[in-house]
Amino acid sequence: MILIKLGGSIITNKEKPLTARKKVVDKIAKKLKKINESMIIVHGGGSFGHYWSVKYDMHTQPRKYDLYGVAIVKNSMIELNKIILDSFITNKLNPYSLPPTDFMIGNKPNLKKVKQIEEIAKSGLIPITYGDALWYGNKKTYILSGDKIMTYLSKILKPRLSIFALNEDGLYSDLKTKKLIKELRGENPKISKNKMDVTGGMTRKIEEATKISKIGINVFFVNGNNPERIVKAIKNRKYEGTLFRGKRNVR
Ligand code: IPE
Repeated sequence: MILIKLGGSIITNKEKPLTARKKVVDKIAKKLKKINESMIIVHGGGSFGHYWSVKYDMHTQPRKYDLYGVAIVKNSMIELNKIILDSFITNKLNPYSLPPTDFMIGNKPNLKKVKQIEEIAKSGLIPITYGDALWYGNKKTYILSGDKIMTYLSKILKPRLSIFALNEDGLYSDLKTKKLIKELRGENPKISKNKMDVTGGMTRKIEEATKISKIGINVFFVNGNNPERIVKAIKNRKYEGTLFRGKRNVR
């Protein structure tokens, strides 16, 4: 089984509120059709959920956020999820939409529900979940990122590999020359607070990818604009991107 995160920066136009990059989503769906392995998709919020969460000053820490903000974030995520579902359906895939409320209680994943997601994936359906605004308890809510969901699902389900499709080729050791880091073997990449951070929340992605690789799973960062790279990473062909080598695979 494979876990794939479609980052908000790849499926939406982050410069333009509420704009999906439908052509890119379609391109990705077409390529996923070539994969004969069960998979689970997680997607981000980009110019939908992310846009509104910034507007309503909502964050990952549980607090009493503006409830109208919560409602709007959730609503916009359903809209974005629907765009992805429609594209998958058009491309004859079998998406199975799963808002994170289906498997999260407060800020903890529900083991039985997560295990059920695996069963669903193995049947030939493609579970699709996403980052969202969630109920925490005690009148508090919080933003659960798709990156965090990747870590939860990886820990519980131990997929063969986890892939983050980004709007970049991977991690660059030097932003000016765009020199790509091909492989990380447990070391922390030296990424300073830079532009990538503001636009893509790259620090959080690196954090989660590092956690996933520490449980022994290979994690790929690939450019989703070129979805053949997703296929290559899955089919073990020469990958183009950054590989966080799973701890057990580091020799
Ligand atoms: C964002 O999920 C969820 C919301 C803000 C509602 P992510 O944090 O995974 O989104 P991207 O991929 O960075 O846009």
